[in-house]
Amino acid sequence: MELAAVILAAGKGTRMKSDLPKVLHKVGGRPMVSYVLQAVKESGSGRIIMVAGHRGELVAQAFGGQAEIIFQQPQLGTAHALLQTKEALAGFDGHLLVLSGDTPLVTGELLRDFWQAHQESGAYATVLTAVLENPAGYGRVVRDSAGRVARIVEQKDAASAELAIKEINTGIYCFSAEGLFDYLSRIGTDNAQKEYYLTDLIAVCMQNNRPVGAHRAAQPEIIMGINDRRQLAEAEMILRRRKTDEVMLSGVTVIDPGSTFLDQGVVIGQDSVIYPFTVIEGDSVIGRNCLIGPGVHLKNVRLGENVFVTNSVVVESTVEDNCSIGPFAYIRPGCCLKRGAKAGDFVELKKTVLGENSKVPHLSYLGDTTVGSGVNVGAGTITCNYDGARKWPTYIGDGAFIGSNTNLVAPVEIGAGAVIGAGSTITKNVPPGALGVARGQQRIVERWSDRKKKKEDPQT
Ligand code: UD1
Ligand code: CA
Repeated sequence: MELAAVILAAGKGTRMKSDLPKVLHKVGGRPMVSYVLQAVKESGSGRIIMVAGHRGELVAQAFGGQAEIIFQQPQLGTAHALLQTKEALAGFDGHLLVLSGDTPLVTGELLRDFWQAHQESGAYATVLTAVLENPAGYGRVVRDSAGRVARIVEQKDAASAELAIKEINTGIYCFSAEGLFDYLSRIGTDNAQKEYYLTDLIAVCMQNNRPVGAHRAAQPEIIMGINDRRQLAEAEMILRRRKTDEVMLSGVTVIDPGSTFLDQGVVIGQDSVIYPFTVIEGDSVIGRNCLIGPGVHLKNVRLGENVFVTNSVVVESTVEDNCSIGPFAYIRPGCCLKRGAKAGDFVELKKTVLGENSKVPHLSYLGDTTVGSGVNVGAGTITCNYDGARKWPTYIGDGAFIGSNTNLVAPVEIGAGAVIGAGSTITKNVPPGALGVARGQQRIVERWSDRKKKKEDPQT
């Protein structure tokens, strides 16, 4: 049997109180609907349709490459949303998997099992249900005296006896496409929210003697729908725990999963250790045997093996094997630390390449700088890369030695093996192997303190 999936993602998400469409809010570093899309891809659906509406252009922009986008304008409810796919699905005579874009914990496995159960039951419609200790906010599944699903009642329309029902509608359904759009068009808006409820389709099916079934999800927590930011944080916590579990099972030590935040795209090599209070974002890749943290924030970085980073921030940069960063370093976008390089305490780098085994151990700022290999940059060295109008580059050749407290006024080039005297302000190129010094000569005034005393007290 052929399966097509429809992801409903047109709602504004009023309860989020946001300008951003709800399904684009991020959990685990990715828009929530991207998880639903991923699960759908694993479900066996041949086609994937996404219904976009409120600020739908943003949804189309993000997901147009991965799903057929259909617009729902205005957004009059979930049944109305599904109705918009009528034309796109004209002639399709398989089955539809319909689900919401706001359930990011859903898995491909769950959808596959559900589709399987729907096929085996031979039902016209199957609703995926879950039994929740606290069913608040969800539609309740009302069964008849024989235990069959009779209808779904929304929380806002439910009588008090119905509110006590713990079996809820997950918002995930399988329907036969045959006759479906006809049934959909019979749904009205006679309810508390004056919306076209997709949940009413169950009762319409019953009235038309179409068999309706229910399938219970074994793990109720994975069907959680996100309607407000408290639920967003709850889902974040669950996804975070899933991710730390995954990396721990793959051979990474996470000292404190409770204070470790790994985005879903993060990859960490075996035997690396993540210390507490660490945030690793985006598609960061970390090699084997790294020591990361405590207090590290990494975003879209690529770290080799045996890298040590502590109490530092590294953004959009590459760090090769055996490098060391921090404590208190800030590595800004566009940097590359080659093998064995070091950016130590209170060091800021921006668009800078540190060559192999080069060291910037303390208190420096290098911007738009290319440093060769085996260079030592003394404490307090600053590149003056900005003249108020534009940025200029600095080059430091292999094996150069930059004395402490040097200003390198860019554009400037320090040749290989050159030495810069401490405290210099270098404005002209220094040839390879040369010494560059640019500072005031030291003056000695003998017996200065004796003379000073005499002035203050003429008697002595
Ligand atoms: C819905 C179900 C409820 C179920 C719950 C599960 C209905 C009427 N209710 O309620 O029974 O327990 O999901 O999480 O279906 N959407 C559109 N167009 C619209 C309105 C909504 O595309 O006009 C989309 C939303 O973007 C969202 C999904 O449909 O992804 C569900 O809408 P939402 O408003 O979150 O429904 P719930 O109140 O959670
Ligand atoms: Ca919802």
